Amino acid sequence: MTSPATAPADRATPAIAALAYHDGEFVPLAEAQVPVTTQALQYGTGVFEGIRAYVQEDGGLAVFRGHDHYRRLLRSSRTLRIEVGHDVPRLCELTAELMRRIGAMSDMYIRPLAYKRALLPGSPPGVQLTGVSDALTINAFRMGSYTDRGGIRVAISSWRRPESVVLPVRAKVTGGYVNNALAVDEARAAGYDDAILLNSRGQVAEASTSNVFAVVRGRLVTPPVTADLLEGITRDTVVTLATDVLGVETVLQDLGRDELCNADEVFLTGTGVEIVPVTEIAGRPVGEGVPGPLTKTLMSTYHDVVRGRDPRYRHWLQAVGPATDRSS
Ligand SMILES: Cc1ncc(COP(=O)(O)O)c(C=O)c1O
Repeated sequence: MTSPATAPADRATPAIAALAYHDGEFVPLAEAQVPVTTQALQYGTGVFEGIRAYVQEDGGLAVFRGHDHYRRLLRSSRTLRIEVGHDVPRLCELTAELMRRIGAMSDMYIRPLAYKRALLPGSPPGVQLTGVSDALTINAFRMGSYTDRGGIRVAISSWRRPESVVLPVRAKVTGGYVNNALAVDEARAAGYDDAILLNSRGQVAEASTSNVFAVVRGRLVTPPVTADLLEGITRDTVVTLATDVLGVETVLQDLGRDELCNADEVFLTGTGVEIVPVTEIAGRPVGEGVPGPLTKTLMSTYHDVVRGRDPRYRHWLQAVGPATDRSS
């Protein structure tokens, strides 16, 4: 997850929680360290998730779609032959326990990371996925909404999103994020907040850490998974809410650069950015240059859902429960 440059400094600065789940126990964050020889550090052989927990109407904290995030983490792990050692319910429970031990009472961002650690005895040095031990770390920090609800300005990156014969783009692999980092860096150096990456066919893939939606001639459109994008959980939430709540079907369709630049509305979706309007692409306004009506309706619907204000979607929220006073 990266934060677009528009983040208001006060809300964007995360307060690091003092505990992490690391190597099978809850430890002070300062003790959650890895050696420089860690394989994932050297070769990018880790997989991760970004999950949010939101303060609910009753003041309690609930994790949003944690099961779906952990299902994706386990799928990503299989791709890299990482044995996480826990199933989805256990990972959700560990996350809730971390929140309780931290005593989290405000919106949180949770970062599970499963990775290749050390060569097993007898394994030769070098880049490989077998003969290497696996590890899991979960840390979390306080983080509210950080994107500018008034809209952000994006560039079209000169970096292309890798295709799935180059990298497993549907897995959230740490090493693959060098592509995203280069795209963000280029966009920010040019004064933009974020970047949209085209795929190898020149169609819209996604933004640096979010999926792209556009309103094109009255239709809500988002690129299909075959456009080499990460299948976002927020993307799925938006597709579901658009249909169920607003009666708007999402068309899964390749989006060309021109189509995107001439859309009436464009917005990005991701756990970190939530739903953020795009009001300018490559120096040209999107529509009237202000957040569009469908974007605004989806934003408020989404925020109602993540705060537990819509009973139809409470199954997406896992209550954390009251804080414990244990510190390790
Ligand atoms: C490259 C990329 N695409 C899309 C997304 C959006 O995914 P999600 O909605 O599951 O957070 C993310 C964020 O995780 C991402 O890093």
